[in-house]
Amino acid sequence: MYLYPKWIRVWHLINAAMFLILIVTGISMQYTDKENASYVVGFAKAVKWHNFAAIILVLNYIIFVTGNLLTNNGRYYRIGRKDFLSNLTKQFNYYSRGMFKGEKHPFPVTEERKFNPLQKLTYVLAMYVAFPLLIISGIGLLLPEITIKTFFGVSGLILTDILHITMGFLLSIFMVIHIYTCTLGAKPTSLFWGMISGYHREE
Ligand code: HEM
Repeated sequence: MYLYPKWIRVWHLINAAMFLILIVTGISMQYTDKENASYVVGFAKAVKWHNFAAIILVLNYIIFVTGNLLTNNGRYYRIGRKDFLSNLTKQFNYYSRGMFKGEKHPFPVTEERKFNPLQKLTYVLAMYVAFPLLIISGIGLLLPEITIKTFFGVSGLILTDILHITMGFLLSIFMVIHIYTCTLGAKPTSLFWGMISGYHREE
């Protein structure tokens, strides 16, 4: 099944590459102090690369949202209310027990259903909740003059920073779990090949 059009593959490649740069440079900035001015990457270099990768990531994100609005790919991100919780439970039980007993996948991939319910929910939360918050807080840190000065007596810049670091952390955790679940296809490498060739192979 041809499930990953070229634009999604190019978006995903750029997104993953920029994400890795942002994680390395973000951690570098987080743990730099006066005594340890070059944690992983030197501070000044980390700031430069972090800003550069962030701008590419934002432009790329606009392509993701526009592509999903204008093409059929967007339908895979629509969450229906019918059986929402019971479907999530089924998928969770499969990941936590069923797959180790060799049970059949409860939601096999079809042209109509590219993602299983749990995958769909995490993709929607990552791409449409965490990502916008990460971007907005990042812009707030890049342009401190436009950031709210105080909020209930607390520095707006510190709150923006906490939001940015929290979203960065959650999305990094998402990426680790995401890469693990991508090894659960027919063969451990199948889903990765799918994202390269565009074709999903049936189990
Ligand atoms: C080196 C890092 C990464 C690898 C190896 C990787 C791998 C993959 C693979 C194999 C797929 C296809 C399987 C599927 O449909 O779920 C996929 C899809 C996807 N990945 Fe990643 N990924 C990485 C990083 C990321 C990051 C950082 C994000 C977002 C924060 C992300 C978001 C997505 C989304 C939204 C899809 C579904 C795209 C679509 O078909 O509409 N990935 N990824």
